[in-house]
Amino acid sequence: MIAKDESPDNGPLYPDYLPHYDPLEKIQPVGPFEHVDPGHRADPNLSNLLKDATKVFELSPHCGTEIHGVQICDLSPEGLDDLALMCAERGCLVFRNQTYTDAGFARQKEIAAHFGPLHKHGWMPHPKAAVHSADTEEFVIVYDSKDDLRIRKSWSRKSPIQFHVDQSPELQPPGLTFFCMLESPPGAGGDTIISSMTRAYERLSPSFRRRLEGLNAIHTTANPIARELRDNGDLAVLRRPITKAVHPVVTVHPVTKKKALFVNSSYTQRIVGWDDEESDYMLKFLFDYVNRGQDFCCRVRYEPGTVVVWDQRVTQHSQTLDYQPGGRRHAFRLTPLANVPIPALVEEDDGECAKDEGRMMLGLC
Ligand SMILES: [Fe+2]
Repeated sequence: MIAKDESPDNGPLYPDYLPHYDPLEKIQPVGPFEHVDPGHRADPNLSNLLKDATKVFELSPHCGTEIHGVQICDLSPEGLDDLALMCAERGCLVFRNQTYTDAGFARQKEIAAHFGPLHKHGWMPHPKAAVHSADTEEFVIVYDSKDDLRIRKSWSRKSPIQFHVDQSPELQPPGLTFFCMLESPPGAGGDTIISSMTRAYERLSPSFRRRLEGLNAIHTTANPIARELRDNGDLAVLRRPITKAVHPVVTVHPVTKKKALFVNSSYTQRIVGWDDEESDYMLKFLFDYVNRGQDFCCRVRYEPGTVVVWDQRVTQHSQTLDYQPGGRRHAFRLTPLANVPIPALVEEDDGECAKDEGRMMLGLC
């Protein structure tokens, strides 16, 4: 078990999880692997996940469900399979007062690794407790406090609202992601906004959707790495070179088979085969469209012990960074990798485009 300081006045509650920055550290990426999604094994009734639940409610119609009475640490492998399916369907799941917070590095990793091999981040910090240890190199520490202002600094010249998929430039990007809040600032703030890319895609006009299907886009870590270098100079952490991948603009979830929009403003650079101005125009529209998508997102407020699980293949998320600078926000993330993104095939005309054009007759154009 991990040491825990119960006195907030004496510093962080979880000193073993404080961030460690090593500019000389290098890591080996996970590499190609065969992914079998646990959601395929799930009970469609989610009985193994929800049998002890005392309360289950939606955070918004199209994204997010909060579940009370369930401890992630107590779930059987079958319960974790159900969690994968429910998360794919709802985009994100919120659990409160979790023992997962205090389960220790090994158990925390064991549960997250049920969903795929754990990603190793190229520049975000690992826990301080295990410096020079491979035991924690999969942990990403999110720490914002008066004694560490790296996060504030990195967003000082732009809006902190930036919807993204974590690490989409991987050849096999993340599926489920575990975000565990250890300590949150007093009062409101420091939420995560999670947005359904399934609904975002569905809400586009049928003929516009058809235009996007079949396109591919380049995803790269070039910009975040440039920002890390700009902000931290010689102390910048660069464990891996720039990663780059080409992914479909519209993907299909391997379990639900639903289509989702898969371009994001942190990592998607260009649409393959289009001139720069064409690509910039389309991507700007799509990023703005996601930013405006108040009707397909939910906002998760944290307490210590809150664990949020989201499926990166069907959502994007953004921090809010709206609390008082200097307030301590301390969390960790574990990020299982998943399938090579599956392209949505351009469908035969099913009449939806013609129906869409019928909007003209209704005076809606
Ligand atoms: Fe993120």
